[in-house]
Amino acid sequence: MNLQSTTTLNNGVEMPWVGLGVFDADAGGVAEQAVRWALDLGYRHIDTAAGYYNEADVGRGIKDSGIDRDKIFVTTKVRNSDQGYESTLKAFDASRSELGTDVVDLYLIHWPIKGSHLDTWKALEHLYAKGKVRAIGVSNYLSHHLEELFDNFDIVPAVNQVEFHPFLIQEELIAFDKEHSILHEAWSPLTRARRLDDPSITEIARKYHRTNAQVILRWDLQLGIATIPKSQDRGRIEENSRLFDFELDAEDVEKLKSLDADFRVGPHPDEMF
Ligand SMILES: NC(=O)c1ccc[n+]([C@@H]2O[C@H](COP(=O)([O-])OP(=O)(O)OC[C@H]3O[C@@H](n4cnc5c(N)ncnc54)[C@H](OP(=O)(O)O)[C@@H]3O)[C@@H](O)[C@H]2O)c1
Repeated sequence: MNLQSTTTLNNGVEMPWVGLGVFDADAGGVAEQAVRWALDLGYRHIDTAAGYYNEADVGRGIKDSGIDRDKIFVTTKVRNSDQGYESTLKAFDASRSELGTDVVDLYLIHWPIKGSHLDTWKALEHLYAKGKVRAIGVSNYLSHHLEELFDNFDIVPAVNQVEFHPFLIQEELIAFDKEHSILHEAWSPLTRARRLDDPSITEIARKYHRTNAQVILRWDLQLGIATIPKSQDRGRIEENSRLFDFELDAEDVEKLKSLDADFRVGPHPDEMF
């Protein structure tokens, strides 16, 4: 496995296991520079959202990299305030134009907004049928939100992107996604650096002569979970990409699992709206 290794989504599309997240990377240069560094270092997957207000930076970073667009996997997401059928179609066109791309690789519903997420999904299915997106998925969906989609539609989301790190595991949701061939993808894999210095993680990191961030990201991959760490620092973007020359043993995989504490850095999907 290497930084460009892919997983096959439930519709046959290949998605790199590791991507660069750009939440909170400022537009107007910072996000663009981060994307350029990441692509230069070998990343081929960028995760943005209309709500991050940096899609244009991502688009410029990709263009300036000189790498063929079809070698890079780009995810963006429908903002909550744009949910609904017509508004999603309009929002998609805006995202596509900001990104400067004809086709988006993965388009996600950012949060399961009560009352409108079913119409939003209908719009995503339309975009998929028209070939404007290569895969469609969801984010922050719990099993009951997914059941609602299954009850109303035929297409099963390719991805469910949720908060995931050693302090928030949600085993049942992982099992549910797996059972339905939905790829589980980790957002805030590094806890936004809030619990990165946990002594148990440091102890494991010392054993493998790696950093705490590398241990967590490697753990994601060994669990079969795609991961999109954010950094806007060249050194840390590189650090987060060096995950392929060591392997955690089974005991350490379990030790990391034992840190589960129902600790969130973001909102609970049922409590946000
Ligand atoms: N779907 C959703 O609702 C949702 C929600 C949140 C996030 N996301 C996606 O997931 C991505 C990742 O999540 P996130 O940005 O919330 O948090 P994260 O990746 O867990 O952590 C990012 C923070 O950790 C720092 N960091 C990165 N690498 C580090 C390292 N090796 N050592 C020490 N500190 C490090 C970063 O600072 P520097 O930049 O200074 O390195 C930044 O402050 C986002 O960027 C976004 O694409 C999706």
